[in-house]
Amino acid sequence: MTDRKATLSVGEQSIELPVYSGTEGPDVIDVRSLVQEGVFTYDPGFVSTAACESKITYIDGANGILLHRGYPIQELAENSDYLEVCYLLLNGELPTKEQGEVFKDTVKHHTMIHDQMRHFFSGFRRDAHPMAIMCGVVGALSAFYHDQMDVNNEEQRQITAHRLVAKMPTIAAWCYKYANGQPFIYPRNDLNYSENFLQMMFGNPCEEYKVNPILAKAMDKIFILHADHEQNASTSTVRLAGSTGANPYACIASGIAALWGPAHGGANEAVLDMLAEIGDESNIERFIEKAKDKNDPFRLMGFGHRVYKNFDPRAKVMRETCHEVLNELGIDDPLLRIAQRLEKIALEDEYFIERKLFPNVDFYSGIILKAMGIPTSMFTVIFALSRTIGWYSHWNEMVSGSFRIGRPRQLYTGSNQRDYPKG
Ligand code: CMC
Repeated sequence: MTDRKATLSVGEQSIELPVYSGTEGPDVIDVRSLVQEGVFTYDPGFVSTAACESKITYIDGANGILLHRGYPIQELAENSDYLEVCYLLLNGELPTKEQGEVFKDTVKHHTMIHDQMRHFFSGFRRDAHPMAIMCGVVGALSAFYHDQMDVNNEEQRQITAHRLVAKMPTIAAWCYKYANGQPFIYPRNDLNYSENFLQMMFGNPCEEYKVNPILAKAMDKIFILHADHEQNASTSTVRLAGSTGANPYACIASGIAALWGPAHGGANEAVLDMLAEIGDESNIERFIEKAKDKNDPFRLMGFGHRVYKNFDPRAKVMRETCHEVLNELGIDDPLLRIAQRLEKIALEDEYFIERKLFPNVDFYSGIILKAMGIPTSMFTVIFALSRTIGWYSHWNEMVSGSFRIGRPRQLYTGSNQRDYPKG
């Protein structure tokens, strides 16, 4: 596979390790043989560790590049719809016209969830966080489709992909309806994916819901821009869970749980909470100072990224969509004014410039979703809906090849072996 070697010296010991090059990105040093030499690598937060080989998504954080199967995210957002991006992530190529139609039709015919699953919703308290409900209900899909889920059967894996992509908007919208005490709205086959999601969110049985095409398009963009992001915390969680051979619906539920945190998918909700806490434009400077203060845990939510150290290419597209939506709705919301002012001030501040902290995708997506009338507690649910195809494509890539159970090691700093106290 490679002739190149890196040499690692540990005391007197010299260890040769193979070096590989991917199609893009930095070279990687294969450290798998280190265990036989009696040493481990130490990399909390996995900042320097490639945990797998993958052909799905590539990020060049220094130059703000995000490619899905080689295609830049900006071009996908401009020319494809979300379901075409799903097809691409899952299958490796953009669909032909016919393949696209078949895929969309198949997804359309899997959007209903088993009627018994309605009962799962009523088991939750009304004030349950919709992410908690979604995590539970998606995990419960494993109980409904377990018999048709042989992870080694490619056809069954495809059917599971269709089911997941199709059912996530229904589950997401029902989480919202349940919290609001409104009747569940069923999917409609005459609408496209994002239109259907909006009608299940905002429709009611008393009157026909007319979908605003600009909002449906913006929703579709939000889905596209969140569809995949390489080996982030939730995707790595799905891969790790999947490496045990676990049921894929349960693996996706583990991804939803990992996404929930404010350092990851919960950031879009945290952005709006932060804007509400700032409350008035006159307080912005004080909050910027808090964010810069090392003794204060406060951070500007929606700023910074582990990988992007220049700009987040998704944020660029999202920013444009944000302005389109705000213009269309003619919204003049004080929180949105705070957001725009905060963005400007932070982008000109030395602290943020030096540390390469730019608004990320979640800064703008939260603002768009708020303008659309979607409550903040649903923001991460919508992220999870969009990311399901990314999680699944990674899980599918892993189980299609040879893989081992994921099992990191540790630097143990606890007590040495000692005797149990007697008497
Ligand atoms: N506000 C203020 N300071 C910050 C921020 C922020 N949002 N983000 C990073 N910093 C500072 C941090 O204090 C550190 O400063 P110093 O070098 O002086 O100690 C420096 O920037 C590097 O930060 P880090 O924590 O080492 O960076 P990281 O790569 O571990 O964390 C992050 C990345 C996204 C968790 C972090 O930037 C953050 O907490 N941002 C706010 C939450 C957020 O918006 N998350 C959404 C990420 S995008 C969606 C997704 O992919 O999930």
